[in-house]
Amino acid sequence: MLFQTLLVFLKFPLLGLVEDTSLAEVKRAFGAANIPETIHLPFQPQVLLKVTFPVVGAKPVTLHAGIQLPRKVTAGPPFYNVIGSQSKGPFVVAAVDPDVPTPQDPSVAQIPHFLGGNFFLKSLKAPTFLSNNTPAITEFRQPRPHAGSDPHRYIFLLFNQSKGFDNQTLVNSTSSLALFNISAFASTVGLGQPIGGTFMLVGPEPST
Ligand SMILES: *[C@@H]1O[C@H](CO)[C@@H](O)[C@H](O)[C@H]1NC(C)=O
Ligand SMILES: *[C@@H]1O[C@H](CO)[C@@H](O)[C@H](O)[C@H]1NC(C)=O
Ligand SMILES: *[C@@H]1O[C@H](CO)[C@@H](O)[C@H](O)[C@H]1NC(C)=O
Ligand SMILES: *[C@@H]1O[C@H](CO)[C@@H](O)[C@H](O)[C@H]1NC(C)=O
Repeated sequence: MLFQTLLVFLKFPLLGLVEDTSLAEVKRAFGAANIPETIHLPFQPQVLLKVTFPVVGAKPVTLHAGIQLPRKVTAGPPFYNVIGSQSKGPFVVAAVDPDVPTPQDPSVAQIPHFLGGNFFLKSLKAPTFLSNNTPAITEFRQPRPHAGSDPHRYIFLLFNQSKGFDNQTLVNSTSSLALFNISAFASTVGLGQPIGGTFMLVGPEPST
């Protein structure tokens, strides 16, 4: 019985149990996964970005940086929360996959998995989810790595929203998703560096 419990625990050691609590740890995880180099953005987090996936019939799953999740948990759309902020917003949330079609040959990366702005915290004291008052530029898309690929990194980033964001014309809901560049986007739209982030690994669905 104990052995079985241990096995279950080892199989899903982190689901819902561990969340990011340390900026230094998130920064370390980004570095260990080569994320700043991959997406050409420095990462000096000032706040924790919490990304939580609702799961039908089970407890929601909140990411910690670098967690590998079964694809079925990632249907989303996720909820976002910000811990440690001095400002209620507005914020921009972006999620990108830099590993398309594979981490070894990311020839069509990045693919945006979410891009939205005008996110606000209702309160700096009570932990509430971010809510946005405009439609996202591109809505959340579930990870879909191709069969045979190693797991992809799905990177969520939080930015202070810039004045130019609402008027940006680089991306809209009908834009091609291929070859997105979050660094170039952030620079053009004036977002600067991310103030928070986290990421998950998702592999192809096991073939049945
Ligand atoms: C983001 O905004 C907050 C609050 O206005 C400010 O303290 C912080 O320095 C900003 N961060 C960056 C990277 O601009
Ligand atoms: C954005 O566009 C609106 C409407 O065209 C304009 O009133 C506003 O000044 C623009 N804002 C910026 C920051 O360019
Ligand atoms: C959407 O963005 C594309 C470029 O990605 C542009 O060619 C197109 O005109 C834009 N559509 C609208 C409705 O703004
Ligand atoms: C993305 O844009 C940055 C500039 O912000 C550039 O250095 C980098 O090479 C671009 N990445 C790709 C894959 O084009």
